Amino acid sequence: MCGIIGLIQAREDSVPAVMQGLNFLEYRGYDSAGLAVVDTEGKISCIKQVGKTDFLRKRLEESPLAGPLALGHTRWATHGEPSELNAHPHLSGDGRIAVVHNGIIENYATLREWLEGCGHQFISQTDTEVIAHLIQQHYRGDLVHAVQESLNLVEGAYAIAVLCSDHPWQLVGARSGSPLVVGIGDNGGFSLASDEGALQHLASKVVHLPENSIVLLTPTEYKTVSLANQAVQAEVREISVRLHEIDKGGYPHFMLKEIYEQPDTLRNALRGRILEDAGTARLGGLDPVIENLDRIKKFVLVGCGSSWHAALIGEYMLENIAGIEVEVDYASELRYRRFTVDPNITAMMIVSQSGETADTLEVMRMAKQHGMLTLGMCNTPGSSVSRETDAGIHLRAGREIGVASTKTFTSQVITFSLLSLLLARRKGEMNEEHGQRFVQALKHLPGQVEKALESNDLMKRIVHENQEYTNVIFLGRGYNFPVALEGALKLKEIAYVHAEGYPAAEMKHGPIALIYSKMPSIVIGTQPEDVLYQKMLSNIEEIRSRKGRVCAIASREDKNLEALAEEVCYVPETYASLSPIVNVIPLQLLAYHAAVLRGCDVDRPRNLAKSVTVE
Ligand code: M6R
Repeated sequence: MCGIIGLIQAREDSVPAVMQGLNFLEYRGYDSAGLAVVDTEGKISCIKQVGKTDFLRKRLEESPLAGPLALGHTRWATHGEPSELNAHPHLSGDGRIAVVHNGIIENYATLREWLEGCGHQFISQTDTEVIAHLIQQHYRGDLVHAVQESLNLVEGAYAIAVLCSDHPWQLVGARSGSPLVVGIGDNGGFSLASDEGALQHLASKVVHLPENSIVLLTPTEYKTVSLANQAVQAEVREISVRLHEIDKGGYPHFMLKEIYEQPDTLRNALRGRILEDAGTARLGGLDPVIENLDRIKKFVLVGCGSSWHAALIGEYMLENIAGIEVEVDYASELRYRRFTVDPNITAMMIVSQSGETADTLEVMRMAKQHGMLTLGMCNTPGSSVSRETDAGIHLRAGREIGVASTKTFTSQVITFSLLSLLLARRKGEMNEEHGQRFVQALKHLPGQVEKALESNDLMKRIVHENQEYTNVIFLGRGYNFPVALEGALKLKEIAYVHAEGYPAAEMKHGPIALIYSKMPSIVIGTQPEDVLYQKMLSNIEEIRSRKGRVCAIASREDKNLEALAEEVCYVPETYASLSPIVNVIPLQLLAYHAAVLRGCDVDRPRNLAKSVTVE
């Protein structure tokens, strides 16, 4: 999604630092980028370009720009196609005000019509240009005041940064619904970004702006007020992103590096959280609400994309292990449904690696209004989910740069297993001895994932030998049905190969009509002792008898599967509930190699954004 980075300081070399910030924002996904620079005389220079930020860099080499105030933006198109005209920054009609914006202005058409009636002329198709003109319309010499008055007319979710040629020593930011962070400069000056990762070269301390607030930055100070002009308190924190986290570490892509980090990220997720003797878990983030949790009879789990898949696995775990009723919802659907649950006995778990997904945040806020206990499961300290939930569990996966979720997905799943263990033990659904065995299985998981990573060469060969196929079905049952969904999502999003995930037994209710010699199936057939295993073998027979090709993921030398499948990929065996963490590894590698083979931009797939901050 769009990214904002701005810097104001006494020195005149703000442009290189803002360009570097734009680099850090690239992982979010974008289609065009732009930069506005104000010199000490107040002259605004603005350059914009479709495509990567390298194009901007080339233009700066040809015609360098300098000034104490620079403002950059990466755009992910919502209103209007990717084009130079639609790229940000947008200027007011008189060219004195420049604005960059993340989010969506819902009433922009009404505002535009009104402004056109006042004589304003627009050159882009964006909602953002309306904000620039609106500020010009309200500007009487005080920039903060004009921004405040303008935003009082705006409906929607936004984070904006604004500069004005009359005030070369002022940068104004405001947010409602979309995040905005102030960086307190290590070497003087202040910066502003939509994502604290973009500030890592500029600041070690940051302030996450509260909802509905405005900030005024100058080279020497920053001041925060609410949109209604009341004083607001905002906490200063240490930045949580570290530079080495955005290094590829010798891997060709961030995604591959992140796949290979999983043994370590899983160890991190477990560190200090398992109590071996007591056979239980301890999740410090839940300590403040642990007694409230004892009265909870039902969990509503919400998320989007891979987080929703992790929540589906969480549903199986919480029900089977802890005996708790669970409902899993897409945040985008739940936000338009009526909440019928009893808030006294229901908790909502908000599952989001970024902690900024627009639909997820909306549901979280609705649940709070409904009086429900809200818990976050999030990978981003300081994000809206981390700050606004009553309590939560940090995923500890480290920054994930590849747009495709990999290590954060497995961290979500292992976190659900810890939560299920903790609640099962507290509710007496699991005895101490069983708890101890479960803890041992958890401890083995990072090593088992290491072993599963050895499937890399096999997955690469399978991809190369099957490159003619452009449709794939993924099948799993029980805990591994969501893994089938996740495998299909990975292949779709980074390799642009059409793929469907199904619970295997559903095949005969329709999808089996698709099976023929050119429709391969990837079948998760681990857990030979599981009651569903025999049924899975029957499903594979059904595919084979229609000449469908099968690649099976298996967990023990398995003659049955070997007889039925063209390829068998062996992974270590663990508890059925924990098997998704191991079984998803070859599927991640499969998608990765398919994307590389097809020449796709693995870390920044087309049309996608790392964090979906608009509805
Ligand atoms: O940051 P979130 O976990 O809330 O993001 C949710 C989805 O946008 C995300 O999981 C998306 O589906 C990934 N690209 C999947 O790889």
